[in-house]
Formats: sequence, C-alpha cells, structure tokens
Amino acid sequence: MNPIKHVAIIMDGNGRWGTSKKKSRNFGHKQGLKTVEKIIKESIKNKIKYLTLYAFSTENWKRPKNEINYLFSLLHNFLTNKIDELNKEKIRLFVIGKKKFSKKLNDLLKYSEKLTSKNKRLQINLALNYGSKSEIINALNKLKNKNLTVNAKNISKNLYTKNIPDPDILIRTGNRKRLSNFLLWQLAYSEIFFENKLWPDFNEKDYNKILKKFKNTKRNFGKI
Ligand code: FPP
Repeated sequence: MNPIKHVAIIMDGNGRWGTSKKKSRNFGHKQGLKTVEKIIKESIKNKIKYLTLYAFSTENWKRPKNEINYLFSLLHNFLTNKIDELNKEKIRLFVIGKKKFSKKLNDLLKYSEKLTSKNKRLQINLALNYGSKSEIINALNKLKNKNLTVNAKNISKNLYTKNIPDPDILIRTGNRKRLSNFLLWQLAYSEIFFENKLWPDFNEKDYNKILKKFKNTKRNFGKI
C-alpha cells in the first residue's frame, strides 16, 4: 500500500456552483471554504502531512474586482477567526506564491505563518498569487545568481516548496482536465485524479475514495 504524505488540490468549480444555485459566483466561493474545512479535518484523520491548496493563481488577477476582493476578504476572515484553532490543532500554515497583497493581508499571512511555524501534524500550503512557470524561472535565476549548477536537486531546493516532498496525489475537481500552471515541476510523478463534482459538492466520502484508490495503485517512477 502506498503511504500518502502529500495531497495537492485544484479546487475548481466554485463559480459554477454559485450560479447553478441561481446565486452569485461569490456564494460559491463561500461554500467552497466549507469544503476546505472538511478536507483539512479529513486529511488529519488520514495522517496526511502536507495539503497544498490552489486558492489564487497569478492568472486570477484577471477576474472582476468584486470577485478578487471577495476572495481575499474570505481568506482574511478565515485566518482572523480560525488561526488560533488551527494552531491548537498543531497545523502549520505556509504560503507558496508571491505575497504581494494589501499590507493588512500580508501582515496577517506572515503572522499566521510565524505563529504556526513549529507545528508538525499537518502543513497546509496555501498557493496564493501562485504560478508554476514563474516559480521555476525564479528558481533558475537564483541558481544563476548563486553560480550554482542547474540540476534537478538544485531546482527543487530553490522552489517555494523546498523541503516539502512532491505531491503523491493531485486532485482537480470541477470536471476540467488541465493543470492550470500549478506545481508543474513537483507533479512529475504524482497520481492525478480528475473529479467531476464541483468543489463545493466535494465531500469526505469522495476524498476517501480517491485516497483508497491511490493506496492500491502501483507506482513505478519510470521503472517496470
Ligand atoms: C476556482 O473555482 C476557485 C478559486 C479560484 C478559489 C478557491 C477558493 C476557495 C475554495 C475559497 C477560499 C479558500 C480559502 C483557503 C480562504 P472557479 O471560481 O474558477 O470556478 P469556475 O470554474 O466554476 O468558474
């Protein structure tokens, strides 16, 4: 059976869920946050050590201002209300992506990271203003500036995800089969699960089904 250390998720379908309920896209994001909380709890139950969530991509800045503001206010309220609880649960919060937000949100993110930095039960990597291509370009530039050899080990050590094992599993909800500039380097050997359900409808049972399927998959890493 394959042990599961790291699960990465593209939480797609909030907007469509909101409009399918004759409500706003933002209503879908609000509901999506409830799924995030369920999946965090279920990850702990399954003794998963790293959960990486794609919350905001570098491309998401092209969305209407009202949606962007709503997403960040959701994140702000979530952290303000829940960070102490996450800390008590021994959960570490870590941001991957460029922290280029309002001073208020940047400060809250830094505070949350520092507060939880010693926690070891589950690390949540929140991908915010994240783009994989620019992450890789950044890493290559760092190697150039430090005059280091370009090899796989050095590239990995200069990504946002340095010291984090590559994901065993990528889940994308929302019935779309693409990677959307997410962890392109780190997903090289991950098992990918595309789920038709929209993120707000995804639940513990769906998650456990995927984890079970993974545990029974033979992973070859290029060998036979
Ligand atoms: C993609 O769905 C989802 C996002 C861009 C945002 C994800 C945010 C959440 C799940 C809630 C907030 C999370 C935290 C951690 C505070 P989409 O809007 O692209 O859906 P669509 O394909 O239906 O348009």
